[in-house]
Formats: sequence, C-alpha cells, structure tokens
Amino acid sequence: SWTMSSFVTGAVEQIKEAVGDKKVIMGLSGGVDSSVAALLIHRAIGKNLYCIFVDNGLLRNNERTNLEKSLTTHLDMNIRFVDARRLFLDQLAGVEDPEKKRKIIGNLFIDVFEDEAKKIDGAEFLGQGTLYPDIIESKSAFGGPTSIIKSHHNVGGLPEKMKLKLVEPLQFLFKDEVRKLGLELGLNENLVWRQPFPGPGLAIRIMGAVSEKRLSILKAADTLLLEEIRAAGLYRKLWQSFAVLLPIKSVGVMGDKRTYDSCIAIRAVTSKDAMTADWARLPHELLATVSNRIINEVDGVNRVVFDITSKPPGTIEWE
Ligand code: XMP
Repeated sequence: SWTMSSFVTGAVEQIKEAVGDKKVIMGLSGGVDSSVAALLIHRAIGKNLYCIFVDNGLLRNNERTNLEKSLTTHLDMNIRFVDARRLFLDQLAGVEDPEKKRKIIGNLFIDVFEDEAKKIDGAEFLGQGTLYPDIIESKSAFGGPTSIIKSHHNVGGLPEKMKLKLVEPLQFLFKDEVRKLGLELGLNENLVWRQPFPGPGLAIRIMGAVSEKRLSILKAADTLLLEEIRAAGLYRKLWQSFAVLLPIKSVGVMGDKRTYDSCIAIRAVTSKDAMTADWARLPHELLATVSNRIINEVDGVNRVVFDITSKPPGTIEWE
C-alpha cells in the first residue's frame, strides 16, 4: 500500500538517478510547496542543492524574518537571500493592470533569480515545487478555460530560458498530500500549515497601483486579520484568509470628524486544492472584532467589507 515513507524512498531514488552528481538550483518562496520539494531534493543530493530566496518587497509583515528563521534552522542547506525590494517597487510604480503587474513581477523574478543562479557554477537542473493542480491550471490538461484566466509565474519560462532540466518531485501530489509529506520530512509545523500565498504577493491584493504607502496599509490590515483568525483557532481550517485593499474611498465618521478613506475587503475561503473554493462562514463576532480593529488601528482605512463570493464564479485572489 502507498505510504508517505515509501513515497519518500521512491522519490529520493528517482531524484538521485536523474540528477547524479550534478547541481540543482531552486527558488524558495517560503511556502510549503517549495520548502517540501527542497527538503526532498536535499535528502537525495545534499549540498548539491542550491536554494535562492528573492525578497520582492511584496511579502507580509515579518514574513522574511520568520522564513529566514524557520528555513535556516529547519533545513540544513545552501540558501541565498537576495534583497530586491527596491527593484520591484520601482518597476511596479503606477501600474494598475493585474496581468501587467504579474508580468513585471514574473519577469523581474526571473532576472534576479538568473543573476544569482549564474554565480552557481555548472548547475544543470532546476528544482520546482509544482503541484498537480498547478499543472492543470496552467496547461489546462483538461481542456477547460482556466489556462487563459491568469498567468502563474511559478510554472514555465525559467527552465527554457536557462536551459535547465526540471526536477519536480511533487508534480503528482495535491496540497494535503504535500503537507503530510512535509511532516514526514520533519518540516517545521508553522511552515507545513502555512496558508498558500501567491508568487506576486501583496501586489495582486492591492487593487490599482502598488505604492509603499498602500503596501503599508494592506500589511497592517492583513496582520490584524491573521492575528484574530489565529486567536479564533481558525487559521488551519481555512485554505486562505487575507485582506485586500480596494481602489475606492468612502465617507465615514470618526469622533466628530468626517473621514474619506480607503476600504479593506476580507477574503476567507475553504478549499481542497484551490480549483474550487467556498467563502468561509466566519463567525460574526470575529468579523466584528476584525472590522473594529482595522478601522481603529490602521491609518487610512474607514470601512471593512466581507467577500461572499465562491470560486467559481469568482477567483480566490481579487486579481
Ligand atoms: P485564484 O485566484 O486563481 O488562485 O483562484 C488559485 C490559487 O493560486 C494562487 N495564485 C497564485 N499563485 N502565482 C502564484 O504563485 C500567481 O500568479 C497566483 N495567482 C493566484 C492563489 O493564492 C490561490 O491559492
């Protein structure tokens, strides 16, 4: 019968056979998929795996620090951290179109990654944490309309350009299996249960142009939301939960003053693999606390709304 430990043994064998004594480079996003793929590859080839983490400035509060901590203490491997925050913010300035944002972020990621990868002599392989649903959504293996909806920058592009052969040890797994695999491989629990976070990061949760000011509003609101969701014991039950910054302002009152400020949408969904999703029936008390805290504690926000759209017809992200 199929067990995780026999999967690990088989996968390690296959990676060893395919890679031999050559080097593999791999981008770490800080998420479950790339971490688990890296652990598996690391188990097979050890120090011949070279990981690169690009900080694009579009991560949530404290994320980079937390990642650095859990990755470096839990994965004894070569990891290089690249600070590219300025570069991404400069190129995104004034760009409103969602697909343009994705293209800019995807291309810039490839450039930064390539520059760093060039420093690793003689690498022949590229490791990726691609899952089965990623492949279906991008290549639309079932002939559905999903492939034209969004470009996923974590699949395709890079290997052709760098003439690298792909190592994708998770390509037949679903998310719940990857989590089990992560536990089997001894990955830190916070990482194993981390909700998925998109490659383009907070840029696709800011409707309209990304700026440092708008990033800081969204980060603050998102931090409060996640704090309350964890406190309510709901973090692991939700597939994803996050704040979205809307491109509109509305009127409010604060004390005896009229305000004219931004609006935050709360998005929380349950799902098995992101192909379909239902909006989460968050308790009203939790919503009330989150709304109060965001309006009182985040400068520049005077209204909070709750997204009650399922996928389909909506997508999980707003862009
Ligand atoms: P949607 O919004 O299409 O998202 O329902 C499905 C899942 O994919 C994530 N997502 C992305 N991940 N690059 C990524 O790496 C992207 O461009 C991207 N767009 C969406 C999303 O967070 C959800 O888990």
